Amino acid sequence: MKKALKSSAILLALTMGLAACSGGQSASDAGKDSKKEEGKTGQSEKVVKIVYARGQDSTKATEKIIEAFEKAHPNIDVEFREMPADTGKQHDAYVTMLNAQSSEIDVMDLDVIWPAEFAQAGYTLPLDRFIEKDGIDLSKYNQGALAAGNFNGKQWAMPKFIDAGMLFYRTDLVPKDKVPKTWDELLKEAKELKGKGGTKFGYLMQAKQYEGLVCNAVEFIASYGGQIVDKNGNVVINSPETIKGLKKMVEIVKSDVVPSNITTFTEPESHTAFIEGQSPFIRNWPYQYALANDKEQSKIVGKVGVAPLPAGDKGSAAALGGWMTAINKYSKHPKEAWEFVKFMTGPEGQKISAIYGGLAPTLPELFKDPDVLKANPFFAEEGFVNALNAAVPRPVVPNYPEISEIIQINVSKALAGELTVEQAVANMEKEMKAALNK
Ligand code: GLC
Repeated sequence: MKKALKSSAILLALTMGLAACSGGQSASDAGKDSKKEEGKTGQSEKVVKIVYARGQDSTKATEKIIEAFEKAHPNIDVEFREMPADTGKQHDAYVTMLNAQSSEIDVMDLDVIWPAEFAQAGYTLPLDRFIEKDGIDLSKYNQGALAAGNFNGKQWAMPKFIDAGMLFYRTDLVPKDKVPKTWDELLKEAKELKGKGGTKFGYLMQAKQYEGLVCNAVEFIASYGGQIVDKNGNVVINSPETIKGLKKMVEIVKSDVVPSNITTFTEPESHTAFIEGQSPFIRNWPYQYALANDKEQSKIVGKVGVAPLPAGDKGSAAALGGWMTAINKYSKHPKEAWEFVKFMTGPEGQKISAIYGGLAPTLPELFKDPDVLKANPFFAEEGFVNALNAAVPRPVVPNYPEISEIIQINVSKALAGELTVEQAVANMEKEMKAALNK
């Protein structure tokens, strides 16, 4: 694996229209390849380089997966290309690249909200013939996660891991019987604990105007029984339940338990503050657990508990997230790209993701694996399994990015006090109806 290229450099290269050829090799790569060739008896095997793109990985999972894959496939060299951590920015970088039919990357991770859009735009390769050829048993996968990569009857992406919003807490500050069960309990305890045990804040979440805000908002809305779009695609956001849920979100964001600049926080800002020991509570995705227990980065190793998110009137609700892996339609190495996709989303790759990245597998059998459970004891807990199974998807509509933007803008205005929650909800209803009836 070669050093990751910084995302800003990629963006610069993209804006300048420079599309590097994925087959190109530097002098040091060539040296490495010939060494590999020397190792073979008689015939020399050509080494193919593929580029794998995904967002910043704060854990060691990506590094370990590539290492294991390269070991098993000495003729394929994987270069990791780091994309922006913010899923929206990452989306836009791929769209720029793929619109230009660039073959710069071969394999890429897709947020669960993108596969249909990418398939429709012709950015990704249908995987069905590879799946069939290699006899991949799709019935072994979590069917909801699998469905997110299915569009027009074809499988465009393989499910890599499932995300669901969870509450992480400091076990040295919060006794198990005090873990908050409702948003009001959370607020109360966060107030009491703020400043204790070296903390600066009481609660951390993601409140910047970006995709993660939509996930946080979905959780507040659903925990009070609200919905955005119903099963039939009708916009049902303007309800007393949604208003109540978003009011609770505004109350928390405006309270002094969160950092005063919480509306600039995405996952990395919030997880960094948490592993630095600055807060007793955080809302985040399952990877938080592995990260908080990483001795090289965290000051709170062994002091982290996991629980379902606090409940509103209706109960606890987690937003459904996760990532899939797809092949760039313009890749010059689809065969090798598939080998990597197969490995990473198969049992071996997902086991590495679960152990080193704390990521929840899309192959349910791995939840019983002793090594996976040793690394993530909470995978065996009923609360976690229930949260995963009941996680609430974001609106499943073809033009999701537009809907997401409507939510991001209006919720941000409500958080900033520029709109009342009632006004924000009425705006969202009107704008979403217009966007969906186009
Ligand atoms: C996580 C989720 C993804 C979501 C993103 C928002 O990466 O897996 O689905 O869109 O967070 O920040």
